[in-house]
Amino acid sequence: MALINKAIFPVAGLGTRFLPATKAQPKEMLPVVDKPLIQYAVEEAYAAGIRQMIFVNGRNKRAIPDHFDTAFELETELEAAGKKELLAMVHSIKPDDMECVYIRQPKALGLGHAVLCAQCVVVNEPFAVLLADDLMVGKPPVLKQMVDQFSEWQASILAVQEVPAEHTKRYGIVAGSPISDRLMDLTHMVEKPAPEDAPSRLAVAGRYILTPGVFREIATQPRGVGGEIQLTDGIAALMRREKVFAYRYEGKRYDCGSKEGFLQANVELALAHPELGGSFREYLRGLEF
Ligand code: G1P
Repeated sequence: MALINKAIFPVAGLGTRFLPATKAQPKEMLPVVDKPLIQYAVEEAYAAGIRQMIFVNGRNKRAIPDHFDTAFELETELEAAGKKELLAMVHSIKPDDMECVYIRQPKALGLGHAVLCAQCVVVNEPFAVLLADDLMVGKPPVLKQMVDQFSEWQASILAVQEVPAEHTKRYGIVAGSPISDRLMDLTHMVEKPAPEDAPSRLAVAGRYILTPGVFREIATQPRGVGGEIQLTDGIAALMRREKVFAYRYEGKRYDCGSKEGFLQANVELALAHPELGGSFREYLRGLEF
């Protein structure tokens, strides 16, 4: 069995930063080039050896379970038309050895609450959390890098990157003592601090590996920033009992929860796309600014 076999995808958010696109569809289904954001995150978890995907879903999010389900009419038509490559591509969205579990988060009480909703499925093993609106591109994939670190340290690990001081209020910010170039033993974690209160400029990106002890901590946290039950507060409490590390990942993060980050991801991934890249580059060159 893999070291980490379960991943939680909190997908119940309302996606208000992306209205009107997210009025009737989940933000996690917005496509970057030709794939929905949630599929990038699930593929990253699969590449890290994870086989059980746990979606913490909300109302109006049927498109996500549908995306990872059999599409009977579509598959029958593709088969009848002999479109084998497309059929194989549709099948590959959910490999046979991958299991999907859906949990409803009855109220949008925050990221910590969403993770806590999955406790009944995770029970007592370490697990990953992936926020699909952070699209990560890395070689090896960022979560795989973190699983490799976990196999060495057997402790919670958070993906971090440095951000400009004026952006600390968008993230969970961590501080601690360096162990190596990429790893830090954490002593502090604060959710969305103002620059003057931030303990550093190291921000948590949407990838976590957590030990199950975090559930007990989240469950006893009072409401935090924005009146929500924050995952950050649960992890900060966990730090008093267990080691928690920050890992400076190798790769690039696109903040697809923001319109600008989403557009950047589309342009850069289109340029890297094996079929579209060449012609898209030509198209961009021909644009007049
Ligand atoms: C969440 C977390 C935050 C983290 C961020 C990464 O914030 O609460 O600690 O740094 O994701 O994207 P959100 O973006 O949901 O406001």
